[in-house]
Amino acid sequence: MSAVPRKVLSVLKGETITPPPIWLMRQAGRYLPEYRATRARAGSFLDLCYNPELATEVTLQPIRRYGFDAAILFSDILVIPDALKRNVTFTEGHGPQMTPIQADEIDSLKGMEIFPHLDPVLAAVSGIRAGLPEETTLLGFCGAPWTVATYMIAGHGTPDQAPARLFAYRHRKAFLTLLDLLADLSAAYLVRQIKAGADAVQIFDSWAGVLGEDEFEDFCIRPVQRMIAAVKAECPATPVIAFAKGAGYLLKTYRRKTGADAIGLDWSVPLAFARELQQEGPVQGNLDPMRVVAGGAAMLEGADRILDALGHGPLIFNLGHGITPQADPDAVSQLVAHIRKDMA
Ligand code: CP3
Repeated sequence: MSAVPRKVLSVLKGETITPPPIWLMRQAGRYLPEYRATRARAGSFLDLCYNPELATEVTLQPIRRYGFDAAILFSDILVIPDALKRNVTFTEGHGPQMTPIQADEIDSLKGMEIFPHLDPVLAAVSGIRAGLPEETTLLGFCGAPWTVATYMIAGHGTPDQAPARLFAYRHRKAFLTLLDLLADLSAAYLVRQIKAGADAVQIFDSWAGVLGEDEFEDFCIRPVQRMIAAVKAECPATPVIAFAKGAGYLLKTYRRKTGADAIGLDWSVPLAFARELQQEGPVQGNLDPMRVVAGGAAMLEGADRILDALGHGPLIFNLGHGITPQADPDAVSQLVAHIRKDMA
């Protein structure tokens, strides 16, 4: 264990730190010119994900520039379907694409291995830890089964994940098999990331918000509970952050039932409700990424409202979703300085 305290890790264990530590979802990305340069050198987006040296480099770029309190492994949630041979590609302007899975193909995924295919990602985790300052928390991550399944079923991104919702109603048994399979593989993947040097892990359920209450229980809560139980069985001391975007009012039940240590909040979560959630454990969020694009008062006032409401309990300051390519890197510097000065 390191002698230097890692602030994000301390908050995840329940401490309140003033000013709160900060990192941003998608902090290594196209808004940074140095990312675009490395990305151009790597070839395709997946080539970058599977090149430990370049994945390490882009993970460290935002740490060097801003001194964030946490680094997040540079990779993607869709490396799991890629390891399952779903022919994943990322093409400029089209987002991710893959071969849509059919109900009668799901049983054939049973027994498939994601290693050694994902070994380069684990090599990146070790490389990143070696290159990070002692005080910086390293986060591993993966997608939640529901969110990963939505892409596997549609074969691409959609505005409302209608294909996956329809599939789940029509082929419930096959769909639940797919979720269990993804939960088990993803948990094993997180355990390997932790063993390679991740201090904590985040589970991204970016499409939680398109489900009805019963489906949220069956497709989001249950598989994430299964994953967290499996991770905790091997790594009981490692905190898990769960980010269920759009889950709103259901986040209290979500925390209790999944066993997540910290809850990621999107920007639609009302701050009064976020305070109630914070009574039960650490929270992370939740500035609207468009406030960073707008910059100036829109950004700083939004940040102040979060600090006023949540800054006196266990909080990790973050955005409510990933930073977008239109964000100005200088606005991010201003945001970091503001959080650190405001509460110093
Ligand atoms: O946060 C970080 O800096 C770590 C890296 C990270 C990426 N994707 C890199 C990435 C993380 C944590 C993700 C998670 C991810 N990927 C999610 C969950 C979080 C969310 O944003 O909702 C999802 C749904 C995906 C799937 C995915 N990957 C999509 C839909 C896209 C296309 C949209 C886009 O922004 O282009 C990606 C591509 C992607 N993943 C990029 C990056 C930096 C941009 C691609 C590029 O550089 O060419």
